[in-house]
Amino acid sequence: MENQQKVIFSGVQPSGILTIGNYLGAIRNWVGLQDDYRSIFCVVDMHAITVRQTPADLRRRTYETLAIYIAAGIDPARSTLFVQSHVPCHAELAWVLNCSAMFGELSRMTQFKDKSAKHADNINAGLFTYPVLMAADILLYQADLVPVGQDQRQHLELCRDIANRFNGVYGETFRIPDGYIPTGSAKIASLNDPTKKMSKSDENVNAFISLLDDRDTVLRKCKRAVTDSDSEVRRAEGKDGINNLMNIYACFTGKSDAEIEREFEGQGYGVFKTAVGEAVADGLAPIQNEFARLMQDKAYLESIMREGAETAFRIARKTLSKVYRKVGFVGL
Ligand code: TRP
Repeated sequence: MENQQKVIFSGVQPSGILTIGNYLGAIRNWVGLQDDYRSIFCVVDMHAITVRQTPADLRRRTYETLAIYIAAGIDPARSTLFVQSHVPCHAELAWVLNCSAMFGELSRMTQFKDKSAKHADNINAGLFTYPVLMAADILLYQADLVPVGQDQRQHLELCRDIANRFNGVYGETFRIPDGYIPTGSAKIASLNDPTKKMSKSDENVNAFISLLDDRDTVLRKCKRAVTDSDSEVRRAEGKDGINNLMNIYACFTGKSDAEIEREFEGQGYGVFKTAVGEAVADGLAPIQNEFARLMQDKAYLESIMREGAETAFRIARKTLSKVYRKVGFVGL
């Protein structure tokens, strides 16, 4: 029960519907952690505008992202779910932390380099200080653990450096967070190139299965998944495509490798791919039904946002006041 006090914080950008990779690799595990940790999940709309967004799309996706979390099993009664721009402390702490983050270290962030290459016409200052806002997100809640993917490791490391630097200058203020990868979480690869991670921002829509893909789309994408020229459904080195489909099938059916290999013995890839598609579509159906229901009920989603923002604000304000005092701002 010592975990009861531990805080988990994570943020997700409202920049598209999550994939089964996000679901199996992350959210599904968080569902099980809600009783053991104080869990806080944030929809980071302020991060999203570091690249150009269509305002109406951003607004809709913010609702959708929240709805997806709830539909996938994050329970607003046990976890705090909120939208970043509803809690002004994030922007306020980010400014103070900007003054503890170094130009040189921000210049070394690989995501900044990648994104500025991709959006060469819009290399704005927000894109550059993106990791500082992320550090503010985490440090405001004195988070112990931050579940993030490999691509966010460098940002988390920077967050720790900034926090340590601030603590060193002004005295103990922030808890130093650790990254967190729950054991047993599945890594789901792209259907198009199984040596790459499945990503919702892949240009090729056949490379990922979105949590909202309908049955026909799921079946078609599974059918088209890139596999090797062998025909035996068996886990083996070099059979990345089949290994990935076996992982997906296992996650949705709970079957072991041995069971799967026996089930499809002598049947070839076609039959297996159809079975994978059906298992995925069956698994997604309840999430999609719940999602559709929630999206019809904006008032409910807004009540969750409002409640989440109040809870988050209460925690965040304490940390921010402490920071303002430490740096020498006059309190009234
Ligand atoms: N940068 C993260 C991503 O793109 C999202 C994020 C913002 C985040 N703030 C966070 C993740 C705080 C964890 C904790 O995936």
